[in-house]
Amino acid sequence: MKLVGGEFELMKSFVQKHCGIHLDSGKEYLIETRLSDLVAESGCTSFRDFHQLALSDRSGRLRDRIVDAMTTNETYFFRDDNLWTYLKEIAVPQLLERVSRNGSARIWSAAASTGQEAYSLAMLIDELARAKGAPQLAKAVEIVGTDISSAALFLAISGRYDSLAIRRGLSDERRRRYFTQEGNVWVLSEEIRARAKFRKFNLLDSLSSLGTFDLVLCRYVAIYFQEEVKRDLFTRVAAVLRPGSPLLLGATESLRGLTDAYDSGVHGNCTVYTRRTAGGRP
Ligand SMILES: C[S@@+](CC[C@H](N)C(=O)[O-])C[C@H]1O[C@@H](n2cnc3c(N)ncnc32)[C@H](O)[C@@H]1O
Repeated sequence: MKLVGGEFELMKSFVQKHCGIHLDSGKEYLIETRLSDLVAESGCTSFRDFHQLALSDRSGRLRDRIVDAMTTNETYFFRDDNLWTYLKEIAVPQLLERVSRNGSARIWSAAASTGQEAYSLAMLIDELARAKGAPQLAKAVEIVGTDISSAALFLAISGRYDSLAIRRGLSDERRRRYFTQEGNVWVLSEEIRARAKFRKFNLLDSLSSLGTFDLVLCRYVAIYFQEEVKRDLFTRVAAVLRPGSPLLLGATESLRGLTDAYDSGVHGNCTVYTRRTAGGRP
């Protein structure tokens, strides 16, 4: 179905309001390809009628399906080598030290999609805790994965991956150690699955219900947001990050010009933003 006469603007602002995803002109095809089936299924004959239906849907179900369809859930295990080198050499060892001292630590995978990032963390933490001779430390690290997409979270919670997903980023050794094969599906071990808890959460909403974290990964989601939405998001993220703790972004992302709530540093080829400590520079 084609967008006509102002329908792109209607759908674009609906999507932006509900999940922050900004669509420049030229992206009409994204709405047409991703929403046409839903428009037809809803019995609407135009995007204008569909928009009206979505506005009047008090249950929020249609809105959620629109958001689900418009999100891009691309992810894979151990995405970005440089980041995982930093996590392995610096951030996770520090986190395990913290667990030894304080008894627990918390990590937030802020756009968790289908769970590969959260589970990669769980596997890495498991490996490093075992190498330290203290496997029990891994159990005291709480990994919280959030996403706005119910469909993505459903897969994340299941811990079941098809052969395409399992081939992306996961070494043979890790696949053998942490997964069992059931036909065409690879099932994550119960032990690792239990270390990540997933919940539906919109990054445009207040973060206060999430608690505070010792490490936040917020990767490849703000790339879809406009400047002011990013600024607001990363300012709010600083408030849930313990002072001195790291925020990690995607390899192509930066906080430059957005907020001065963080110091930035480079470890190997990974840029690391750390929440400024109280009394640090403003
Ligand atoms: C490209 S994936 C990134 C996955 C993972 N962080 C990674 O780097 O591999 C982007 C994810 O952001 C989610 N997303 C988009 N807008 C969101 C919002 N407003 N609140 C929470 N999640 C959102 C999408 O559903 C999608 O799963």
